[in-house]
Amino acid sequence: MNQQFKPTILIIDDEASICESLQGVLEDEGYNVSTALSGEEGIHFLANEPIDLVFLDILMPGGMDGIETLKEIKQMFSDTEVIMISGHGTFDLALEAGKLGALDFLGKPLDLDIILEKVEKVIQKIELRHSGKTSLHRYKRPIIGNSPAMQEILMKIRQVAPTNGRVLITGESGTGKELVARAIHEFSRRRKAPFVEVNSAAIPKELIESELFGHERGAFTGASKLRVGKFEQANGGTIFLDEIGDMSLSMQAKILRVLEEHKVERVGSGQTIDVDVRTISATNKNLSAEIEENNFREDLYYRLNVVPIHVLPLRERIEDLPLLLDHFLDRFCRENQRPKMSVTDGALEMLSRYDWPGNVRELRNLIERIVILCPNHAIDVIDLPEEIYGKKTLRGGMQAPLKDARQEFESRFIVNSLKANSWNITETAKQLGIERTHLHRKMRQYDIERET
Ligand SMILES: Nc1ncnc2c1ncn2[C@@H]1O[C@H](COP(=O)(O)OP(=O)(O)OP(=O)(O)O)[C@@H](O)[C@H]1O
Ligand SMILES: [Mg+2]
Repeated sequence: MNQQFKPTILIIDDEASICESLQGVLEDEGYNVSTALSGEEGIHFLANEPIDLVFLDILMPGGMDGIETLKEIKQMFSDTEVIMISGHGTFDLALEAGKLGALDFLGKPLDLDIILEKVEKVIQKIELRHSGKTSLHRYKRPIIGNSPAMQEILMKIRQVAPTNGRVLITGESGTGKELVARAIHEFSRRRKAPFVEVNSAAIPKELIESELFGHERGAFTGASKLRVGKFEQANGGTIFLDEIGDMSLSMQAKILRVLEEHKVERVGSGQTIDVDVRTISATNKNLSAEIEENNFREDLYYRLNVVPIHVLPLRERIEDLPLLLDHFLDRFCRENQRPKMSVTDGALEMLSRYDWPGNVRELRNLIERIVILCPNHAIDVIDLPEEIYGKKTLRGGMQAPLKDARQEFESRFIVNSLKANSWNITETAKQLGIERTHLHRKMRQYDIERET
């Protein structure tokens, strides 16, 4: 296999045993393999991570069947190839799948040699497509989260990605703003062109112009070589203006001009160059307050903020914690070549009640550290650091910390669900799987009142 190009494969089959055995075989061959147990789950996965090849079961009970899933894949992710897995009596369906763009079929029971042969062929085809293209950024990091807030963000990403609409991403540090920016680029038609990041806070004043627009050789003392600026580098692709809340006023003026004129001029050159870039910006500051204090230009704000995306802090969507935990455990256990670790209920409760000032980044770093240092297979309360397990976070004394933790978690969980359902009691109770009266009782117990 080509060293640089590591194909990604997704197996969609409702039979877990098929997923597992196929995954095992393909992973042994060095492919990067994931699995999904339903069409919906598969599509969701594809929306988060580009996949080169999908194995798709034709017959899946309930929800989307193989044909529907195939249609959706071909429509939304046209670069992804599909091999159908067809059992007995699915010949007609297989033919239909062929017409819809499936490349090939595997019959059940699966035959190892045939599988590998077919995969090899498809991969060669995909490799051919990739060859000749320079090292483009390939989107590797999925966005994890099943809270209503994250689902809404995933949907927004898909909606805005194909457009040229400027996106402003706000949210606390470590919530995943950059991840969202990269995903928008990856799901846009610009994905084959560069994604260029500009850290607005880090560019010294005297270098702003040459950073952004480039300079000709000899344009000023020290300009010994021609330099292509960020906007020109991003031509055809996306420019990501990070930390825009910290951008100097002089830089703001310069950015505003490019956004208006779609042209740049290298320092020391009399010529203007047309640039076609999509702008995504991000900040953890409150820009309204910055505008108020005359630190940020209002006109620039309106230019950048065509489509706002706000990423909630982790503590306000703590329902995402179990999935994120699982994701990072999976990743870091793999990276450190140790069997996948688990988390005890007690530890999970502690983690759920912690307020995560560093958001997902803090969680990620914590899990990496634990995977490296914790000798036990199951992560327990005592394996957690002081700030999470420590006295500081325990309220109401030490008599019943576990009970406290559970109640606090439950209370926060209920508030979040209520918010997600616009405080509709019936809907919320349904979502939580409890009776309305039970929900009312819980709300009284925790003093939960509708926010105005
Ligand atoms: N929903 C998520 N699923 C998986 N990983 C995530 C998620 N959100 C954040 N991460 C991970 O957390 C880390 C921080 O994310 P990112 O750099 O995108 O945050 P940010 O909002 O840009 O932070 P900052 O404001 O400090 O720049 C990264 O390693 C990222 O991959
Ligand atoms: Mg960032």
